[in-house]
Amino acid sequence: MRVKDKHILLGVTGGIAAYKAVELLRLLKKAGADVTVIMTDNAQKFVGKTTFEVLSENQVLSDLYFDTESSVKHIDLATRADAAIIAPATANTIAKLAHGIADDALSTTLLAVTAPVMICPSMNTDMYQNIRVQRNLDILETDGWHILDPDAGVLACKTVGAGRLPEPWFIFDRVEAMLTPKDLTGKKVLVSAGPTVEAIDPVRFISNHSSGKMGYAIARAAEKRGGQVTLVSGPVALAPPVNVERIDVETCEQMADQMLANLESADIIIKVAAVADYKPLDPKTSKIKKQDNTKDLSIAMTENPDILKRIGQNKTSDQFLVGFAAETDDLEKNALLKMEKKNLDMIAANLVGSSDSGFKADTNKVKLFFRDGSSFDIPLIEKDKVADILIDHVIEKMG
Ligand code: PMT
Repeated sequence: MRVKDKHILLGVTGGIAAYKAVELLRLLKKAGADVTVIMTDNAQKFVGKTTFEVLSENQVLSDLYFDTESSVKHIDLATRADAAIIAPATANTIAKLAHGIADDALSTTLLAVTAPVMICPSMNTDMYQNIRVQRNLDILETDGWHILDPDAGVLACKTVGAGRLPEPWFIFDRVEAMLTPKDLTGKKVLVSAGPTVEAIDPVRFISNHSSGKMGYAIARAAEKRGGQVTLVSGPVALAPPVNVERIDVETCEQMADQMLANLESADIIIKVAAVADYKPLDPKTSKIKKQDNTKDLSIAMTENPDILKRIGQNKTSDQFLVGFAAETDDLEKNALLKMEKKNLDMIAANLVGSSDSGFKADTNKVKLFFRDGSSFDIPLIEKDKVADILIDHVIEKMG
């Protein structure tokens, strides 16, 4: 979302990971960015210019004197750029950039870029750990450029260690973070997500359809905006968000313990988890066997703690508390009742039971209600966008 309509320079240098830049370009284009690729001569030995030209729908810049329609095209590109990414960045290009050397299209253009720059080093482990390369990276970082650490693993040279270019989706995610205004800097954000699971016996349990997508989207959005995020998560099949402290729990009791343990230092608490209101009174330690002559089986249930209500009773006036309401009917009435009963500053109400909203879907339709009686409708959009709008409102209401 942050890269939509942005002018992005993608610098590609001569490393085996140059092929990953093709996928990164595809992700940037899909998100609506206008991308111009700048290649070094060595990069063209790994991937052809045509591939980048076709996918970017822009001429690739590789030669300052012969390739361009204008003799100052590199300056036009640098001036217009909202961000620049060098992926992969070789030791040679890193050294040139660190020392202001401008002897090819990429290094010359980068000297004129004033927008945020991200460098993604990728090379053999010994080269990466070489004191000169590290010194050059330090220079660039000190100058305010973003350095994305390489992954560790088996490299093309068969070495095992740090030096692998991170996956394109990860670089894309960090570019989005780089372009996001840091309006949650200094704020601690506590989020809960996913379902809770309550054992009936060692093989069966009571749970619900929460996938964690909505809560994780909120945790990711808050992290990108500079928040220090703790995510208390029920069992889900999602990757842990980058730079977020994730605490895994299963039951409502465990979620309550972790939420309350992290409550005091939190500035914003957003409770998205779908928590089991009741749990089996007497979970069995051995598997319940099928009885040949018993048709009906009842499981006695007992109430779980209402975590959100407890937080609402304990929160200070500086803390901002957001709850979610999952309703199948009477959305507004039920949401307002929950806001009142649980002492919330805001409640996000979503209708559940349809395939494109609520549980499991990638999209959600939410209505926000606030303590001052106002409300805001978020139409059916991706959960990532819902998350950002919700945080906009939290920040506005917190003043
Ligand atoms: O995870 P997804 O698949 O993306 O789905 C998202 C979602 C539908 C789960 C999410 O958008 C949502 O609506 N979450 C709240 C689900 C829920 O439990 O709603 P509720 O109306 O039953 O509870 C109201 C609030 O009280 C919630 O903030 C809930 O976390 C909290 N609660 C409820 C019971 C309990 N024992 N303790 C609680 O803290």
